[in-house]
Amino acid sequence: MLNKLKRLPVPFKEVLKIASKEAASLGFKIYLVGGVARDLILGKTIFDLDIVVEGDAALLALKLSKHFGASFRKHHAFGTAVVTLNKHKIDFATSRNEHYPHWGALPKVNPTGLREDLFRRDFTINAMAIGLNKNDYGKLIDFYGGVSDLKKGVIKVLHEKSFLEDPTRLLRAVRFAQRFSFKLDKDTALLMKEALSLEALTFVHHHRLIDELVLILKEAKPAAYIKKLYKLTELSFIDKKMKLEDTDFTFFKRVERTLAFYKKSFKKDKKDKKVEGWLLYLSGIMIRYSLEEIVDFFRKFSLKKGDMIRVFAVKENIGRIKQLNKDIKPHIIYRLLNPLSLESILFFYAYYTQRKIRANIECYLKELIYVHLKVKGQDLKKMEIKPYEIYSQLLQQLLYAKIDKGFTTKAQELEEVKRIFKRLSSKNR
Ligand code: CTP
Repeated sequence: MLNKLKRLPVPFKEVLKIASKEAASLGFKIYLVGGVARDLILGKTIFDLDIVVEGDAALLALKLSKHFGASFRKHHAFGTAVVTLNKHKIDFATSRNEHYPHWGALPKVNPTGLREDLFRRDFTINAMAIGLNKNDYGKLIDFYGGVSDLKKGVIKVLHEKSFLEDPTRLLRAVRFAQRFSFKLDKDTALLMKEALSLEALTFVHHHRLIDELVLILKEAKPAAYIKKLYKLTELSFIDKKMKLEDTDFTFFKRVERTLAFYKKSFKKDKKDKKVEGWLLYLSGIMIRYSLEEIVDFFRKFSLKKGDMIRVFAVKENIGRIKQLNKDIKPHIIYRLLNPLSLESILFFYAYYTQRKIRANIECYLKELIYVHLKVKGQDLKKMEIKPYEIYSQLLQQLLYAKIDKGFTTKAQELEEVKRIFKRLSSKNR
């Protein structure tokens, strides 16, 4: 594993080196654990680090944050701390076992050695560690057959109460199996069925389940995950009367293709914002909800208001977008699409298969989205246009004219201002 550590980006190598030194000076032992160890073995890119400390994790994290001038946050209940360095998160946790007061509850934790810490984890492939200490730097620690299961392509729990103690693992099993195209180990599959038949998902606070669902929707190609999850749970943990049909799963595949097409063909995002692709899937899952139900859903799961507004807008505009199914002036396309978020627009691109609708959306994303006026309010003032109250109306009409007529110069816009002003004045007379 030492070679794999050596291939990490320089800032990570530096963090590990200093963490190792600081830990030694405090008399602690430290290890890279969980998904990081797994992904290093698989040769995947690492974004964040997860470090387990046999000792006081928060103290080590604090020292490290001071060394790098990085931000530091402590989580008192779990004895964990996060250092954020150049947008990378480095999680520190004191090695611990977990005791569940009842199934699905948040665990009570006690400090313990690494072996027990790894045993409390979800799956064997996530229960490996890499030593970061003088005597074991870069050494793989694999008590529970993680490497063998990685090779076999198997998702396997470490003990038979795993899904009952932490039912979010039912969703995690689906996520990892789909992500790596792994199979569920035979006994694990049985334990999963058993947990589901005991309605284990009702033991957990719904916020924890929605967090896992969002993680699924954020995977690279989540359509197959959603299908699998629906088959297992009918998504009843979101809503008892949730109903998805074949057409919905076909739609999720189209969303995947839409997002890939968008990424490939339209480099610049509107307002340089990243597209939150997962919201398209969530909108699809909720497409039969009424507007009130959408609001209730976002409240129940304490999801962000900004995300709700985008899902809401999909539902609200789904009928109106059919107007794009004909030859229309570019400014009408603009008027229909410009108030919408990129997520909503891409949703409609995936939702409607009519060529005309798609071509009009493409025209908006390729060109219209970037149209801006050269003429500003100041120019209107200079032209002594009055009253000021008509400025916004005038500029809006100017923008539509520019879109339809394809003006490229400020002079063209100024000429158009005069025409619009004349029209507005005669109308108001
Ligand atoms: N873990 C667990 N049970 C959970 C959640 C997490 O045992 N319900 C453990 C696993 O060892 C996991 C680690 O905590 O590898 C880190 O959790 P998380 O960041 O959620 O998982 P990753 O494996 O890092 O997944 P990803 O690659 O999606 O970040």
